[in-house]
Amino acid sequence: MTDRDLSGRVALVTGGSRGIGRAICRRLARAGAWVAINHSSSDEAAAETLALIRAVGGEGDVYRADVSSFEATDAMFRSIEADKGPVDLLVTNAGIASFQDDVDMPVDLWRRILSVNLDGTFHCVWCAKEGMLARGDGRIVCISSANGLAPSRIRPDRLIAYGTSKSAVIGFSRNCAIALGPAIRVNCVAPGLIDTDMTSGMSDEIRQRIIASTPAGRTGTPDDIAGLTYFLLSDAASFITGQTYVASGGLVTLP
Ligand SMILES: NC(=O)c1ccc[n+]([C@@H]2O[C@H](COP(=O)([O-])OP(=O)(O)OC[C@H]3O[C@@H](n4cnc5c(N)ncnc54)[C@H](OP(=O)(O)O)[C@@H]3O)[C@@H](O)[C@H]2O)c1
Repeated sequence: MTDRDLSGRVALVTGGSRGIGRAICRRLARAGAWVAINHSSSDEAAAETLALIRAVGGEGDVYRADVSSFEATDAMFRSIEADKGPVDLLVTNAGIASFQDDVDMPVDLWRRILSVNLDGTFHCVWCAKEGMLARGDGRIVCISSANGLAPSRIRPDRLIAYGTSKSAVIGFSRNCAIALGPAIRVNCVAPGLIDTDMTSGMSDEIRQRIIASTPAGRTGTPDDIAGLTYFLLSDAASFITGQTYVASGGLVTLP
């Protein structure tokens, strides 16, 4: 990996306006990629991410689209291609979670979580794959969750829909790695507890209990996930596909 080893590449980061996605946008921009920052509602946050990537000498633009809609996702890919060229680095990071995601959850909440976290991932990969296959090169990282590997026994909200969606993202990425190789590499990143808007409503007591069970002795930062994602998109990971990397400070370990 060199300082600007992603120069000339067009990257799309879904949910790039805040949190983990924002850190990934900055990391890819630092490596020279032109970065499409996707989000679905907060224009201000997305504009801030664009300013941050410009501050590290990067370039990109903002694309508002709800990835749970195939039509909106497809239109976004067309706009990016028209503006800068086809997407060759894709990070499916847009995701939602809810503290109501428990045994009493309403059916609509289940559907909404699955439609953003799982359908959204599928829509983006489906829009990206034809061009990547035609060019014989594509790199995809899907952001899952440690919850997708092991349900939390600490959190009081059980995250039934969220955990299910994130397990499915791992299964989807594994299947895609086989179906879309050798042209396209597809890997998954499964973060543990990362300090972002998504987790800011968690009680301090639960946070401390999670930290006490985490060998690294702390929560994660968005940059912890950005570095791993960048590695998986880089040439340094050219022999890695179909894998899931857990970045949870050791809270969840794979067999
Ligand atoms: N934080 C954690 O502890 C943690 C742990 C494991 C996995 N993850 C996963 O990491 C990813 C990022 O999480 P985060 O903590 O950074 O979340 P966050 O701070 O809540 O940010 C979520 C991002 O996704 C965007 N988004 C939400 N719904 C969208 C939609 N339908 N279409 C397009 N964009 C959408 C949001 O932008 P708008 O609001 O403008 O739409 C925002 O940019 C998620 O997939 C999450 O499940 C997070």
